Amino acid sequence: MLLEVRDLHVEFHTRDGVAKAVNGVDYSVDAGETLAVLGESGSGKSVTAQAVMGILDMPPGKITGGEILFQGQDLLKLKEEERRKVRGAKMAMIFQDALSSLNPVLSVGEQLGEMFVVHKGMSKKDARAKAVELMDRVRIPAAKERVGQYPHQFSGGMRQRIMIAMALALEPELIIADEPTTALDVTVQAQVMDLLAELQRELNMGLILITHDLGVVADVADNIAVMYAGRIVERAPVHEIYKAPAHPYTRGLLDSIPRLDQKGQELYAIKGLPPNLLAIPPGCAFNPRCPMAQDVCRTDVPPLYEVTESPVPRSSACHFWKECLHG
Ligand SMILES: Nc1ncnc2c1ncn2[C@@H]1O[C@H](COP(=O)(O)OP(=O)(O)OP(=O)(O)O)[C@@H](O)[C@H]1O
Ligand SMILES: [Mg+2]
Repeated sequence: MLLEVRDLHVEFHTRDGVAKAVNGVDYSVDAGETLAVLGESGSGKSVTAQAVMGILDMPPGKITGGEILFQGQDLLKLKEEERRKVRGAKMAMIFQDALSSLNPVLSVGEQLGEMFVVHKGMSKKDARAKAVELMDRVRIPAAKERVGQYPHQFSGGMRQRIMIAMALALEPELIIADEPTTALDVTVQAQVMDLLAELQRELNMGLILITHDLGVVADVADNIAVMYAGRIVERAPVHEIYKAPAHPYTRGLLDSIPRLDQKGQELYAIKGLPPNLLAIPPGCAFNPRCPMAQDVCRTDVPPLYEVTESPVPRSSACHFWKECLHG
């Protein structure tokens, strides 16, 4: 397994109290696999990713438990120096907002080239050639002519391609893309997503794709991990989850996707609000919003049950996964 996150816990110490952002996340990604991580705003998707990358704000953040195994090695046990090496060469992250992630006063060629100068000790001239090669690879037209231009001279979609190029520069084994297309137009979103998926396959990388857009996921992901209040509530291959979710929260998410074949129908929305992370409800965190909740859901935290009826491995943190699956 390329990456295995085990029982990860992260909290933030704030003036108002301790926000329990990640409460026992388990997920894994293999080489060549795409794992989509879904969930409402505040469910802990980015914090988990930041912990994996080793870029969590500490303080106020604190990792209070768990393991992050990368190629079998627990990253949480590495010294910062070693950690930095892994982060530079073996894993890379793509963020939503390219404009604020790129340096405005350096040309894109200089920024891409820097990766090779710093990590590979290349000459500036060779690094520039590499930059052009990368820009070609992410299909930026006229790369040779544009390599000297600055980030603001590119469109949003092209800037996102530059971000992808940066992430790919050192041929990492794992890429984490945190809402990589959210800031783009719908058509450009699709192009960038297709490009990312294609490169991922070509280079046989593991890809963690964070999104709250279930529509995007269907085409590109192999597996889905659904997060709620800092936990994985359902984990399954994409096609299985679309066929029948085994958690009421996943069902709610699926029912709230607009569908072309049901034009005019009112969109379903999950009732209520995401939980306050300073005071997560006892029992199942989703119980106050759950249409299926029973007494046990208000008292007992559901473990991540194995969905035993499934022909492929999948799991659900719902006491009533069976009813949900058949409901
Ligand atoms: N720097 C921080 N300081 C304090 N609390 C934080 C910080 N970063 C995250 N949190 C807490 O962690 C929670 C989870 O944040 P996270 O960014 O992982 O959510 P998310 O699932 O990525 O949401 P979104 O879809 O909006 O990006 C937040 O609601 C917040 O309470
Ligand atoms: Mg986020």
